[in-house]
Amino acid sequence: MAMKRAATSAIRAFSSSSPSSPGSSGSSTRFLHASAESKKIVGVFYKANEYASLNPNFVGSLEGALGIRGWLESQGHQYIVTDDKEGLDSELEKHIPDLHVLITTPFHPAYVTEERIKRAKNLKLLLTAGIGSDHIDLKAAAAAGLTVAEVTGSNVVSVAEDELMRILILVRNFLPGYHQVINGEWNVAAIAYRAYDLEGKTVGTVGAGRIGKLLLQRLKPFNCNLLYHDRIKMEPELEKQTGAKFEEDLDSMLSKCDIVVINTPLTEKTRGMFDKERIAKMKKGVLIVNNARGAIMDTQAVVDACSSGQIGGYSGDVWNPQPAPKDHPWRYMPNHAMTPHISGTTIDGQLRYAAGVKDMLDRYFKGEEFPAQNYIVKEGKLASQYL
Ligand SMILES: NC(=O)c1ccc[n+]([C@@H]2O[C@H](COP(=O)([O-])OP(=O)(O)OC[C@H]3O[C@@H](n4cnc5c(N)ncnc54)[C@H](O)[C@@H]3O)[C@@H](O)[C@H]2O)c1
Repeated sequence: MAMKRAATSAIRAFSSSSPSSPGSSGSSTRFLHASAESKKIVGVFYKANEYASLNPNFVGSLEGALGIRGWLESQGHQYIVTDDKEGLDSELEKHIPDLHVLITTPFHPAYVTEERIKRAKNLKLLLTAGIGSDHIDLKAAAAAGLTVAEVTGSNVVSVAEDELMRILILVRNFLPGYHQVINGEWNVAAIAYRAYDLEGKTVGTVGAGRIGKLLLQRLKPFNCNLLYHDRIKMEPELEKQTGAKFEEDLDSMLSKCDIVVINTPLTEKTRGMFDKERIAKMKKGVLIVNNARGAIMDTQAVVDACSSGQIGGYSGDVWNPQPAPKDHPWRYMPNHAMTPHISGTTIDGQLRYAAGVKDMLDRYFKGEEFPAQNYIVKEGKLASQYL
């Protein structure tokens, strides 16, 4: 399936792309060069076990291995896949000293720390099968002269659709009703006292990039008041089409919202952005959807606000860390509608990011550039929104 990339402006443009300027951070020179030799490529994916054989298009799993094994091996490359990613005894760790390319995925993130990068003497390329490379120490990757690239745009529709679903699940107080049915109960009042229509509510997205824009487009027919906050104002035509109003000041937007959706990457600026103080300034009973990254929230502040009613409902599929441990407090807080990290790994999304990874590997073997919007770290520099 052809990869579909959102045709938005080059928000990940680099301030400089000169191959001879590896940055000011004393970067070494492991920059990407084509070479005909056989490469050792390691992929870290979630294990599908008994589900692996149920769908031939299930390529995002360990067993599916992005559907590129035959293609890689026919060219003489070595391709190792594992789901064992944590700690010095892990399968991944065994391959760190001599791998050339590491493919990771946000759905089962292999945390690529500065220490791992230092030990990975042959590593040149880190590819993210999906979107969001915050599981990689990007500064350390830049300093080591590594290239980090993701499949920009690959699963943005998957995530935007999922966000719309989560908004409706929270607004309609859907999950308690479902649980009643499972548990043999029938109590309309217990659901109805806090179930609302979406129409007429104020919905704000924090971040209106590819996913945020698709969400706004999908919300338009629901007749809400749409707001967005971003470091960049969107094209006037899209503002007109969606009817979404730009809010330069984040807190000012948040104080107006009945529903807030988070759509920024996890960066140094967005880490912990929703802390106790910020959440306290939001409308009482606000509904929050976060499919962006768990660490954008202060974990305990979310638990406390869900318990006090300051947050009326919290839904998302991203956690810190992943997989979420059994005792992660978000599993047990009231009024949540959390799932494992799933929104961007629909079969359609998997096929698109698998195709995108294959395309970048092919370009790497041929010594060709990647699509500009895919680069997160290139020639010692981070993409602009990570600076
Ligand atoms: N749950 C999933 O399965 C899943 C899948 C894909 C992406 N994601 C997450 O969603 C994020 C967004 O994806 P996207 O494709 O829309 O990315 P994008 O780069 O197209 O959009 C991100 C937007 O956030 C804005 N932004 C960045 N830093 C900001 C800040 N400090 N303040 C305000 N705005 C800021 C950018 O200007 C940009 O418009 C990804 O980085 C990833 O973390 C999750």
